[in-house]
Amino acid sequence: MPELPASPTPPNPPPEPRSGSPARHVHIPVLLHEVLAALELRPGLTVVDGTVGAAGHSRKIHERIQPGGTLIGLDRDSLMLGFAGQHVGGERVHLLQRSYSELPEVLNELGLGPVDRILVDLGLSSDQLADRQRGFGILAGGPLDLRFDTRQGVPAAEFLKTISAADLTEILREYGEEPLAGRIAAAIVERRQSQPVATSEDLADLVRKIKGTRGDTHPATQVFQALRIAVNREFDHLKQFLNDVLPTCLAAGGLAAVITFHSLEDRLVKETFRGETERWDNLTKKPLVASPAEIRLNPRSRTAKLRVARRK
Ligand SMILES: C[S@@+](CC[C@H](N)C(=O)[O-])C[C@H]1O[C@@H](n2cnc3c(N)ncnc32)[C@H](O)[C@@H]1O
Repeated sequence: MPELPASPTPPNPPPEPRSGSPARHVHIPVLLHEVLAALELRPGLTVVDGTVGAAGHSRKIHERIQPGGTLIGLDRDSLMLGFAGQHVGGERVHLLQRSYSELPEVLNELGLGPVDRILVDLGLSSDQLADRQRGFGILAGGPLDLRFDTRQGVPAAEFLKTISAADLTEILREYGEEPLAGRIAAAIVERRQSQPVATSEDLADLVRKIKGTRGDTHPATQVFQALRIAVNREFDHLKQFLNDVLPTCLAAGGLAAVITFHSLEDRLVKETFRGETERWDNLTKKPLVASPAEIRLNPRSRTAKLRVARRK
């Protein structure tokens, strides 16, 4: 059995299946072969998967560090930790409901020093898109929550009740690269005078009325992405991870691998690995991307970028 999440505040209840949440997982790990090769895995290593999800990467990592290896899998989402626990477990496996930005505290609590490898695979899992409890999936629908960890922060529906049109415009523009950010923000602020934007369907319909339905992706995709990034404070976690966590938690000679799906995230990772040359040996001058075959099999991999660096 994997260890159950153990966090001081807030308390960590064991992951439980929720009604409306998927019972089986469908997520396909992206750039799996590239990640496994880049991490130069061998028996006995201590590896952190900071976004363990359904353990798509961690399953294989765990196999390759046996005998004697230790795997620490973190995720902010208890649903995903439940899936991860179906695939990895044992005495030296620690699955915890924590952010990767809290890794220094986690290592301290586990009595471990700097680790050999750290992977983060940012963004959202396909299983979260199917979760009707939190409204991540435009097509799955559900209450507009969009939080990975529902014990922290406020649901997106609450966030939309009070935010100013100007601040919302900036969020949609910056995190969603949404060209009609101003019009969509104004429509949300106008609608909430009479009716809340309470569900994923409410928001998707509102955006569709403004943008129409051209192209193969849903017109509200960028708006959902922007709100998810905002309510989870994803860039705060990533900046803290790159600036403070990686340098302190990765042993000298250790490897860091980061998969991003958003140009702003990729820019932060690129600048960190390229800029601090006294700290990092940048192993990917250009990011690794998915092959046409992988994109055919898993269209989600289309925008994935993997960057790898060695701690000096
Ligand atoms: C793309 S999925 C990871 C999938 C996983 N690599 C796999 O192949 O099964 C991203 C995961 O990161 C989690 N997540 C997002 N932000 C996080 C953070 N700051 N700390 C820990 N987990 C986070 C999400 O809940 C989600 O499960």
